[in-house]
Amino acid sequence: MGHSANALNAQHRAKFRKRGWGRYALCAMQTKAIYPGTFDPLTNGHLDLIMRGAKIVDELVVAILRNSEKGTPLFTVPEREEMIREATAGYGNVTVATFDGLLVDFARQQGAKAVLRGIRAISDYEYELQMAMMNRKLDPELETLFMMPGEKYTYVSSRLIKGVFELGGDVSSLVPPNVVERLKRKAPGKV
Ligand code: PNS
Repeated sequence: MGHSANALNAQHRAKFRKRGWGRYALCAMQTKAIYPGTFDPLTNGHLDLIMRGAKIVDELVVAILRNSEKGTPLFTVPEREEMIREATAGYGNVTVATFDGLLVDFARQQGAKAVLRGIRAISDYEYELQMAMMNRKLDPELETLFMMPGEKYTYVSSRLIKGVFELGGDVSSLVPPNVVERLKRKAPGKV
């Protein structure tokens, strides 16, 4: 006769507590991750990563940084929130939130045990590694998961999309349809 499920769960919980992992293990082993970013605007690369992340965690929170220092934004934070909600409406385990301050604090508030970040090319790696290590220093229990978006998105970034859009270039195949609509409303005639 094996152990009952309850006894096994109790054993697991004791092991996690002993290793100092108790804080996260309390949530019945549900894996919640945060996908943080500026998302100005949401791109097809972001959406691809959200789909990939949502397949491997129980709950994925797409979190928009409110106090980004990345220059003049194209979309307000509420607009970005709406565009991500619209584009991810079909995914049952994806939610959208905003945060400011430290990412590790937001992750702790959310009960998340991982941060999801996309790596498109080696050039992303250095910055991402620094951020991941800093976050680990700030909260050793929060893990960073790196995933690669589909290869057709390796050159797609919000920064480039904004730049091309502002100069009248066609970015309609690089962002989700609802973002194309919002871009058109920002500057009719472009897109
Ligand atoms: O889309 P981005 O601009 O690459 O996202 C960067 C983001 C939002 C993930 C990063 O700037 C962030 O986490 N900011 C919150 C402040 C923080 O926690 N800083 C310490 C980690 S280096």
